Amino acid sequence: MEKLRIGMVGYKFMGKAHSHAYRDLPMFFPNIVHPEMKVICGRDESGVSAAAKQFGWEEYATDWKTLLERDDIDYINAPSDAHKEIALAAAKAGKHVFCEKPLALTLKDSREMLEVVEACGVKHMVGFNYRFAPAVILAKKLLDEGKLGEIYHFRACFLQDWLVDPNFPLAWRLQKEIAGSGSHGDLGAHLIDLAHYLIGDIEEVIGMSKTFIKERPIPAQMSGLTAKGSNSEEKAAVTVDDATLFLARFANGALGSFEATRFAAGHRCTNSFELNGSKGSVIFDFERMNELQVYFTDDDEDVQGFRRVLATDPSHAFAENWWPPGHTIGYEHTFIHEVVELMEAFRENRQPVPNFRDGVKCQQVLEAVDLSIEKRQWIRISDV
Ligand SMILES: NC(=O)c1ccc[n+]([C@@H]2O[C@H](COP(=O)([O-])OP(=O)(O)OC[C@H]3O[C@@H](n4cnc5c(N)ncnc54)[C@H](O)[C@@H]3O)[C@@H](O)[C@H]2O)c1
Repeated sequence: MEKLRIGMVGYKFMGKAHSHAYRDLPMFFPNIVHPEMKVICGRDESGVSAAAKQFGWEEYATDWKTLLERDDIDYINAPSDAHKEIALAAAKAGKHVFCEKPLALTLKDSREMLEVVEACGVKHMVGFNYRFAPAVILAKKLLDEGKLGEIYHFRACFLQDWLVDPNFPLAWRLQKEIAGSGSHGDLGAHLIDLAHYLIGDIEEVIGMSKTFIKERPIPAQMSGLTAKGSNSEEKAAVTVDDATLFLARFANGALGSFEATRFAAGHRCTNSFELNGSKGSVIFDFERMNELQVYFTDDDEDVQGFRRVLATDPSHAFAENWWPPGHTIGYEHTFIHEVVELMEAFRENRQPVPNFRDGVKCQQVLEAVDLSIEKRQWIRISDV
């Protein structure tokens, strides 16, 4: 396959991130299968037509079902709140599917999605893009090479502050029927996936959560993490968590702690984790995503301390395709790397990673945490 013909649903935050990735890919990764940006879909004609022009799509559509009938589409990217319906229909129409995270609103739905894509024999991928930061891949390499020894702790936080203002409107991310959950499924899902990627299976969890602001103004407009209120005084209930924290025991014996909140004033996007092992530690913070803090216990005592490794040398993942060492990359590059993995999967005729299996695994932990909160007790992942 020389080209992969793409139809994409959604043209706002993730729509732009994925469009940018498709456009940049051929320039920096010339020797792999390239995406053809065939059609972008959104419900508002003026919005989607403007996006098609701005992002460089050949055509636009206002009903995603029309994408299924086209024989010039191989692959549907569904970064929308209608993941399940679109993914099932696309797979049944023989299209490969990329779906943003969290895979679905419930574990049951995500299991059904996995079953259907497997039965239809299509390729499937889920959007856990933080796996593709070179510094995160370096952490994984150090772990796999045993350089950190036996892992004792995984400590992860995803802290944002865009909801601290009680007058921020009730965007879709605050409505359970659209988002499934709040900071737990939006931010916590990324941490859980990173934990699976780096450490492995989680055996049991116990959590707590809170909705600090119970009602918010009705929105007039929303996109990604921004929204504008209407002129009316009317408010409606927030039906998701504002913050969720949980503890976890990993199958390999490590202990984990996870915190996801949109109420951490001053933290715009602190997606960070720390690993402590018998031979050393690493610390990653997405706001400084090119760096990995690395500590080895066998360094000479008089120079022991965390060193700051800039993951931009040719030996670091993906770095050779970018700029000279020290010339850093950003958020959007994680999406480009995600597409590189997808394209390599097509070339090698295998499933890309992370795929719907990883999406289901993540959803299982999300739901186990919810159950532990409801029952106020530890829940084994295998029991959900
Ligand atoms: N990987 C990440 O880092 C990351 C970041 C943000 C969002 N997300 C995920 O991406 C998804 C989208 O989030 P967003 O921030 O881009 O949202 P958004 O509100 O910015 O955009 C959603 C888009 O989907 C479109 N859409 C929804 N339902 C549709 C339908 N039935 N038909 C056609 N278009 C439809 C909307 O019109 C809009 O263009 C969510 O699942 C979210 O969890 C992932």
